[in-house]
Amino acid sequence: MTVLASALDTRGPDFAANRDAMLARLAELDAEHAKALAGGGEKYVERHRRRGKLLARERIELLLDPDTPFLELSPLAAWGSDYAVGASLVTGIGVVEGVECLITANDPTVRGGASNPWTLKKALRANEIAYANRLPCVSLVESGGADLPSQKEIFIPGGALFRDLTRLSAAGVPTVAVVFGNSTAGGAYVPGMSDHVIMVKERAKVFLGGPPLVRMATGEESDDESLGGAEMHARVSGLADHFAVDERDAIRRARRVVARLNHRKAYPDPGPAEPPKYDAEELLGVVPGDLRTPFDPREVIARIVDGSDFDEFKPLYGPSLVTGWAELHGYPVGILANAQGVLFSQESQKAAQFIQLADQRDVPLVFLHNTTGYMVGREYEQGGIVKHGAMMINAVSNSRVPHLSVLMGASYGAGHYGMCGRAYDPRFLFTWPSAKSAVMGPQQLAGVLSIVARQSAAAKGQPYDEEADAALRAVVERQIESESLPMFLSGRLYDDGVIDPRDTRTVLGLCLSAVHTAPFEGARGGFGVFRM
Ligand code: COA
Repeated sequence: MTVLASALDTRGPDFAANRDAMLARLAELDAEHAKALAGGGEKYVERHRRRGKLLARERIELLLDPDTPFLELSPLAAWGSDYAVGASLVTGIGVVEGVECLITANDPTVRGGASNPWTLKKALRANEIAYANRLPCVSLVESGGADLPSQKEIFIPGGALFRDLTRLSAAGVPTVAVVFGNSTAGGAYVPGMSDHVIMVKERAKVFLGGPPLVRMATGEESDDESLGGAEMHARVSGLADHFAVDERDAIRRARRVVARLNHRKAYPDPGPAEPPKYDAEELLGVVPGDLRTPFDPREVIARIVDGSDFDEFKPLYGPSLVTGWAELHGYPVGILANAQGVLFSQESQKAAQFIQLADQRDVPLVFLHNTTGYMVGREYEQGGIVKHGAMMINAVSNSRVPHLSVLMGASYGAGHYGMCGRAYDPRFLFTWPSAKSAVMGPQQLAGVLSIVARQSAAAKGQPYDEEADAALRAVVERQIESESLPMFLSGRLYDDGVIDPRDTRTVLGLCLSAVHTAPFEGARGGFGVFRM
């Protein structure tokens, strides 16, 4: 009875057009992901190999249990900036000796693996995920430290990296550093702050200051090995717990360290789950190319939850927001999904009630975004849309169950907040290539700017230049459009990655598994004052 029926006409022209639009966007996305995979480019990759070294992703692959997935995070970090896509760091969640770990690996083919402002943001986000979900951290280190020309952006905030490592350790979340190369100056505190340290013979360089700096500071003559080599640290300083003869040996040792961590998940694995009744392939044709055309999010829910089984909550009340209960890869979830785009007072109140219920029952929440925001206009303001939207935002902010957000389509204005946007600390937030997020739509924003400029001219008694206005509107529309797109937002770390809609169930399943590593309890009360 509660299995969702589908009205999607997979043979119709709309489906075909939506699918073509989505496939075109996925092809663009693939091209950008390929840039991250290429690292510093052929010349630097070749040089790295000639030195007998493994690439960052090869190191990760060898570390992980064979044939297990790696949920890569923020692969498009730094997109649209002056720095290489991927930000010279690979981060993600993978399974090592049966333990889900948060793994970070510097990419030494990109400017010596040096950290730029986006690398820092990406690394801090990875630490946040490890902390919230109690995932052991394995750092595969080989980095030129701070990207020196951008040091002003990273030196001071960058201290948080080392603070995070020791706070993770204090919280009982294990940290493991495997040093494959350079890890000097501030970088020395990555092994310095980690619970377990492995260094590679004749490759690891871990010191506060290299030979030139030491000569400048004290006049002492020295060399890399005596200042910071693996053998010295294993035999003399004691900073290295394990002396690895080569990179593969280091990775093997890291796996043994993880095997002995005695790190247990807070909740048992729910075991195999029933797949949805409908093909995930069909998710390609659900979202219209033009986001002004609404779509039924039940078509998405039917293709991501176990058995397409969904118990809808209050379907007749506030129908522009779909709420209900389901299981996803065996984990119970409450789902909130926008239907007609706009959030009215009823939808907001329904959402607040639903979130409270999920908190009472300790059920994680999944938010599927396609909203243009809360309804504006005299009738709605007088009906209390501000206080009702505030009620929903209050519920989201103070809810203590884990939240997962997926931006399928629009995510505009305060609707982005109420649906657990980035600032509301969802444990994970992914976007589809069809998503757009901004304070409002480009036309609306350009129109508002134009009205404000017109009023300002009138107030000063000046004539209004209609031609300049039209040109300005066009420029602003283009700018806002480009700044609303998923690759741009992902580049700024406003999500954890842009995913293929067909992978949504798998990605959410991996996230839910990670989330269930740490114990959680919903809020029992403890919300702010709800304005009724
Ligand atoms: N900031 C900015 N650029 C850096 C950098 C850094 N910290 N470290 C390396 N690079 C650049 C290099 O200038 C070089 O650029 P180019 O190829 O355009 O000339 C590129 O990255 C590769 O560096 P290279 O020295 O050729 O690579 P390597 O693999 O032989 O050596 C290092 C890598 C990291 C050991 C070496 O570059 C180094 O010692 N860097 C400075 C380390 C440092 O003192 N950092 C400050 C710590 S806070």
